[in-house]
Amino acid sequence: MDFATFLLFLISVLIIICFFFISSTSPSASKTPCPESYPIIGNLPGFLRNRHRFHDWVTDMLSQTPSSTVQVNSFFSHGICTANPINVEHLLVTNFSNYVKGSRFLNVLYELLGHGIFNVDGHLWTLQRKIASHEFNTKSLKHFISDMVKSEMANTLLPNLSKACDENSVFDLEQVLGKFTFSTICKVAFGIDLQTMPYLPFAKAFDDAVENCFSRFLSPFPPIWKLKRLFNIGSEKRFKEDIKTINEFAMEIMKSKQQEENSSERVAKNQDLLSRFMLLSSNLEFQDQEHKTKFLRDIIISFVLAGKDTTSTALTWFFWLVAGNPRCAHLIYQELSEVASPPDAEAVPEARTFSYDELKKLHYLHAALSESMRLFPPVAINSRLTIDNDVLPDGTRVGKGWFADYSAYAMGRMERVWGQDCRAFKPERWLDIDRKYQPCDQFRFPVFHCGPRTCLGKDLASIQMKAIAAAVMYEFEIVPVDGGASAEKMMNPPYITTLLLKMKGGFPIRLKRRDRDGYI
Ligand SMILES: *[C@@H]1O[C@H](CO)[C@@H](O)[C@H](O)[C@H]1NC(C)=O
Ligand SMILES: *[C@@H]1O[C@H](CO)[C@@H](O)[C@H](O)[C@H]1NC(C)=O
Ligand SMILES: *[C@@H]1O[C@H](CO)[C@@H](O)[C@H](O)[C@H]1NC(C)=O
Repeated sequence: MDFATFLLFLISVLIIICFFFISSTSPSASKTPCPESYPIIGNLPGFLRNRHRFHDWVTDMLSQTPSSTVQVNSFFSHGICTANPINVEHLLVTNFSNYVKGSRFLNVLYELLGHGIFNVDGHLWTLQRKIASHEFNTKSLKHFISDMVKSEMANTLLPNLSKACDENSVFDLEQVLGKFTFSTICKVAFGIDLQTMPYLPFAKAFDDAVENCFSRFLSPFPPIWKLKRLFNIGSEKRFKEDIKTINEFAMEIMKSKQQEENSSERVAKNQDLLSRFMLLSSNLEFQDQEHKTKFLRDIIISFVLAGKDTTSTALTWFFWLVAGNPRCAHLIYQELSEVASPPDAEAVPEARTFSYDELKKLHYLHAALSESMRLFPPVAINSRLTIDNDVLPDGTRVGKGWFADYSAYAMGRMERVWGQDCRAFKPERWLDIDRKYQPCDQFRFPVFHCGPRTCLGKDLASIQMKAIAAAVMYEFEIVPVDGGASAEKMMNPPYITTLLLKMKGGFPIRLKRRDRDGYI
């Protein structure tokens, strides 16, 4: 803790002491359990003790309550957290209009996301949602998978992995997948080639900025970060610099689009998402050019947030789980071998990719991917703000202006939702009697969110993950340097507490090429 932070801490303590004297009794007289809560300081001691294992702490608390719902108190706010599917359905669908992003998001994420789709409600949200959903129809999806992912994999990812394999080198799979999925997103969303962009400084600034926003979210004393911002010191000073780098990157993208618009050789017209938004913004009324640029900037950053590390984070846990479960790894490989048509003599072995139709036949792989996201949802916890007093279906009372969180991570670990073996990696729970993939009730698996704000990229992300997992597992065996999922690690998984459930220290691995009898 540097001196400035310490000073701010002292100031906050003083504010809190004042608060102690003026505060009346707690507004909550409901029966909903509020574990580990102390007078005045609420859940703070438990939170501070468990910050490094935040999601498991939430899980522990939720599993001890009768309806997987707790009340959370801190100085500055009240709220509830749930892992109960009927409550989740209520928050995200039945009473959608009472649970908004509101100031809870806008306060902590404004500098990063502005008025982008993830940060707003009402008209601004409807408009962006409508345009973006054009991009995610089945036709563009098929195009995306068959052209983009397949050729990108054959040209960059697989040759890179092949090289690493031949050299027996250790590398961070999370990082390689992150770069690859982000570069495909840039093509789909913005129609740009990441190779031509200042990727590394941007990626670092973006990750740091997201982390700072998440610390703001979790901050037990929000005045601390607000004061730091006011005085431009410490983490908030770095954040400001990161935002500058991020804005430059967004401007770079806009500039390259404008150049493209101006060039006469443009063939594919308005194919990507950004072009659609640009076209639209030319029909919208803006106060001035600056507002228009800001509108587009917010859209660009939202799609970066949606696409940058979400699929790669999910895939990293998938490979980690599969490496620790050789039986499942074998079943996945067996299925891939059955679906892969006999190798044709012309094909380069390391460039075997799977087509859209082939991917649809991979039921076991699909099950294994869903199972890994059930246990390790990339967005582990999500949050809403209540507009008015309400009662959840399980009887929990929520007050006006409270936060209402739901934890997808905890829900995957609730015995009453998934049975006694809920903590085990069992792809079979997603297969029916004919070993065909069966989706489950969406409210038991809110990994892509549910209701009107369901993730637009859901199908796209699923297919992309499947395509990558299939191509990589068909050719290679993953050998984690520190071992994969073990029973012990499953009880205490190595993640870092940030907006996305990233693996702590990345995922260092080696690759081993598969022996294929009668092949080569
Ligand atoms: C593949 O390797 C090249 C050269 O080392 C690198 O520039 C590129 O970013 C890598 N691509 C991926 C997807 O890792
Ligand atoms: C594209 O053309 C517009 C006018 O048609 C011009 O204002 C703008 O500077 C041009 N942009 C680039 C990047 O060439
Ligand atoms: C939704 O919330 C409002 C409070 O804004 C409440 O009055 C209403 O009864 C709730 N509706 C349902 C269907 O629970």
